[in-house]
Amino acid sequence: MIRPFLLTLFVVFISNNIASSNLPIIEYKSIHHPVISKTGMVVSQRLSASKIGAEILKKGGNAVDAAVATGLALAVVLPRAGNLGGGGFMVVYLKDEGKTIAIDYREKAPAAAHRDLFLDKSGNYDKKKAQFSLLSAGVPGTVYGLHHALTEHGTMSWQEVLEPAIRLAEEGFSVPHDLANTLASSPYKQRLSSNQASANSFYKKDKSNYRAGETLRQPDLAWTLKQLHKEGPDAFYKGEIAKKIVKEMELNGGLITADDLSNYKAVEREPVVGTYNEFKIVSMPPSSSGGIHLIQMLNMLEPYQIKEMGFGSAGSIHILTEVMKRAYADRSKHLGDMDFYDVPFGLMSKKYAKSLNESISLDSLTPSKDIFAGDPYPYESPDTTHFSVMDKYGNAVSNTYTLNFSYGSGIVIPGTGMLINNEMDDFSSKPGVPNGYGLLGSEANSIQANKRPLSSMTPTIIFKDEEPYLVLGSPGGSRIITTVLQVALNVMEHGMNIAQAVNSPRIHHQWLPEVLMIEDGYGADTESLLTNKGYRLYSSRTMGSVQAIVREGDYFYGAADPRRPSSGAVAP
Ligand code: DON
Repeated sequence: MIRPFLLTLFVVFISNNIASSNLPIIEYKSIHHPVISKTGMVVSQRLSASKIGAEILKKGGNAVDAAVATGLALAVVLPRAGNLGGGGFMVVYLKDEGKTIAIDYREKAPAAAHRDLFLDKSGNYDKKKAQFSLLSAGVPGTVYGLHHALTEHGTMSWQEVLEPAIRLAEEGFSVPHDLANTLASSPYKQRLSSNQASANSFYKKDKSNYRAGETLRQPDLAWTLKQLHKEGPDAFYKGEIAKKIVKEMELNGGLITADDLSNYKAVEREPVVGTYNEFKIVSMPPSSSGGIHLIQMLNMLEPYQIKEMGFGSAGSIHILTEVMKRAYADRSKHLGDMDFYDVPFGLMSKKYAKSLNESISLDSLTPSKDIFAGDPYPYESPDTTHFSVMDKYGNAVSNTYTLNFSYGSGIVIPGTGMLINNEMDDFSSKPGVPNGYGLLGSEANSIQANKRPLSSMTPTIIFKDEEPYLVLGSPGGSRIITTVLQVALNVMEHGMNIAQAVNSPRIHHQWLPEVLMIEDGYGADTESLLTNKGYRLYSSRTMGSVQAIVREGDYFYGAADPRRPSSGAVAP
């Protein structure tokens, strides 16, 4: 219960904020409140990067300009996931053209990669090779992807959107608590400080830690960004940065060659599209599994009375779990890079969802051992971080990008200040052996030269009345798709405002292992109803970090996930 005194303070605080920005008085049903604006919104996992994006919007830039500036700034201030040495996905709604595009700038396997790359002499999966060696690095796509987005769909120059990032790297920034904490703690300290270039980037000369509030300068990273400023992406894929990457690969057993870098291209793809009641869902196609399974799960959920069951009830958690298990079983068999494997898009058909629903009972759970990947019908119609941007012109950007694990492989390419990804572990290295997120895979996601490893990233734009309504996405490895699903349902079904939708607790099931991961915040009675039904509950640390925006009429409502500190929603 909030005491009347606190409630009065809260109302005064809200009213003052609203009055000063000439915004409507809104009565919230919950204590969660979003940032409100009439001029656009940038939400990312670092307040300082959101501010840079908002500054770009203020100068008249569009959502793509702001997104690219935010992405480049995050490469400096959020080294665990913001990156130049990784890859990702961007979904963009272009108001003037009335269409949504999907940019796939996922890393690619080097040409010398092969199916058994991560197996040792006895044929066993070698975790160290797959996750923490230069072999774990895919050919990075971020620089290509961000530059492509800007030059094709932005309005500002590459130099202009790079400048704030260069400043942050050169002059430094005040280290936030969560960065100081992760860098000082296990396993990151051991991992990063055992590599000389990484130690130079993230620790003091004597390898001691930066404390919160101290200034972290990254001169090598500033050099890299200045090369990009001068030469554009060629610096990265053909020029001085490429030379440093190749030299490190040759010296220390990596596979990426000069040809791999110069051949890299991001691809613009048709997004996947589905519906949920009156909403249109537009999301990322393969090489991410995110969009397909988000739509598949929403199709399965549509016939159920989710709203009536109520948020967080044992009944609604049961249905969600049954749906998640079936989707992740399908993922393990049917999903891989669509340039290499014939992905069955029928996974997104309503008819297929209906057939899967026939095996779901409201009363009892289906053990994962009794769930198998299905045979979808032919389709009838056609430490990661997320940021969302909407501008006053009606454009929207939903972007998720990553190094894979927090700080990727832990290896900085000497002289560049840039961490290299360990995305190759997202391939299925051996049938039946789970990857770093416990995910299983098959032929569809086997390692092949130049192929993109399968992702779960789910940058999404949800439309209402043909206009972008909800922009969202999340990190969280295998938990990304279920996280996006639940926040979308919180808005579409439970009528929560976006801050409440983001903040509310979440669950996750991925078919195997047979456990239901559950965040704190559900009632003990809900948990015991689930346990009595046969669920094995695993009390999880927080899952995901959703950065989201809702647009209703003239107003933008932004919410940054409190699960990862120092995130922020900023209006221009
Ligand atoms: O692409 C993927 O699905 C993974 N590499 C994402 C990793 C991730 O979300 C880590 N962050 N928490």
